[in-house]
Amino acid sequence: MATDQQSSTATADGGVATGSETLTVTDNRTGKTYELPIEDNTIRGLDLRQIKVDEDEFGMLSYDPAFTNTASCRSSITFIDGDAGILEHRGYSIEQLCERSTFLEVAYLLIFGELPTGPQLERWVFDITHHTYVHEDLKHLFQGFRYDAHPMGMLLAGVGALSTFYPDAKQTEDPEERYMAAVRLIAKIPTLAAFSYRHNMGFPYAYPDNDLNYSENFLSMMFKKTEAKHVPKEALSKALDVLFILHADHEQNCSTNAVRGVGSSDVDPYSAVAAGVAALYGPLHGGANEAVLRMLRRIESPDNIPDFLERVKGREEKLMGFGHRVYKNYDPRARIIQQHMDEVFEATEYNPLVEIARELEKRALDDDFFTSRKLYPNVDFYSGIIYEALEIPTNMFTVIFAIPRTAGWIAQWMEMKDDPEQKIARPRQIYTGEREREYVAIGDREGPEKIVGPPARRPKRPRRGA
Ligand code: ACO
Repeated sequence: MATDQQSSTATADGGVATGSETLTVTDNRTGKTYELPIEDNTIRGLDLRQIKVDEDEFGMLSYDPAFTNTASCRSSITFIDGDAGILEHRGYSIEQLCERSTFLEVAYLLIFGELPTGPQLERWVFDITHHTYVHEDLKHLFQGFRYDAHPMGMLLAGVGALSTFYPDAKQTEDPEERYMAAVRLIAKIPTLAAFSYRHNMGFPYAYPDNDLNYSENFLSMMFKKTEAKHVPKEALSKALDVLFILHADHEQNCSTNAVRGVGSSDVDPYSAVAAGVAALYGPLHGGANEAVLRMLRRIESPDNIPDFLERVKGREEKLMGFGHRVYKNYDPRARIIQQHMDEVFEATEYNPLVEIARELEKRALDDDFFTSRKLYPNVDFYSGIIYEALEIPTNMFTVIFAIPRTAGWIAQWMEMKDDPEQKIARPRQIYTGEREREYVAIGDREGPEKIVGPPARRPKRPRRGA
């Protein structure tokens, strides 16, 4: 497409700027030139489709496995500047939110776009507090799991099962149904999470307590024993609330992408959020803080840190809890967690891992190997230590992550539903297989004799004493 003559100026790197918000692409196969509009420093993938050698061809695609350089949506929920170490929700810095808000206020902000007024917050907290119970049949579902079932597997099943209790949630365009799904998901996920822990422990499930705030209620459902009322120490519930705020949303990560992708089929929000729980279950997404704790235990004492760091530099080890795909600066969430650690450790038993972690951080930040690669502590470096201080077992860490992230998943799901540009998610592929083969009858087939199946069983290890 021909364009108007633009005035041109030389750029610092020797190029020529025309001032036009377009990208000129020449297809060297045909010699044709195309001018693609640039908006928000982005070109539209679909604009590449016009580039073709023959008129009856499908047209050019972009190839981007793992979406490392593809924006899948426009979003006004979360802003991250990884180089500067900035995280904002709806324009408010994570530092301000942790300092001045509660988790439920932040959940409201993520979902509705503004901080609530006093009456709005009162109604929101009331609604969430009064939907924390789950149907007794869900309790029976949990009772069907093995005693040692992973709590994240139980949570995944529980969230998916919620859709069967609220079939009207299928009306995804109905604002009332959407509101109720948001309330029910945020209210019930701590109950399901605590049930999964108590199932593992063989304890009777503890019911929600409406006198307590969101994080107090979760700790009460986890740890209540024979006492009539369990009110956790304020330092602990406050620290947990801050951790909830820190994990509430992180733009288009793996699980959020799963929620949006599955939700784009117009399935009910419970099923879409269950997809998010499944994605978070993966060790590359929700499991790094568990690995940090294992690493600190292996280091054992601050005296062993220099040796450990030498092994990291020799590529024999990884410094878990350091480095991030997006943050190339101190993860702002790690700094905030640190500020709450002292309060938590004053209220709990001394944990020697804290000393190892602090010394490890200090030495790594003094070392050119880490600073030159922009490796700084991420949110997982200290979160596991706090969870441990709260007596939360390691296999529950990802479950705890899922509780606040539910607010982000719902906000992102709602934004996706209201975005007129969104359709059912359906990527393209580059087909690499065979084409147009003639069908061969089973008796005429030739090929390797190898039978495809599971690998031959190794002989069982003899039992002890056998
Ligand atoms: N320890 C030692 N070296 C590291 C580490 C680490 N934790 N992280 C990165 N590096 C090194 C790499 O070896 C590489 O070195 P090189 O350039 O000499 O080859 C360089 O730093 C750049 O690293 P990349 O692998 O390119 O960084 P990428 O963005 O792909 O990886 C990741 C990010 C996966 C988080 C990585 O830093 C890592 O594995 N960290 C440890 C695990 C962890 O803490 N994950 C939690 C992330 S937070 C979250 O998911 C909520």
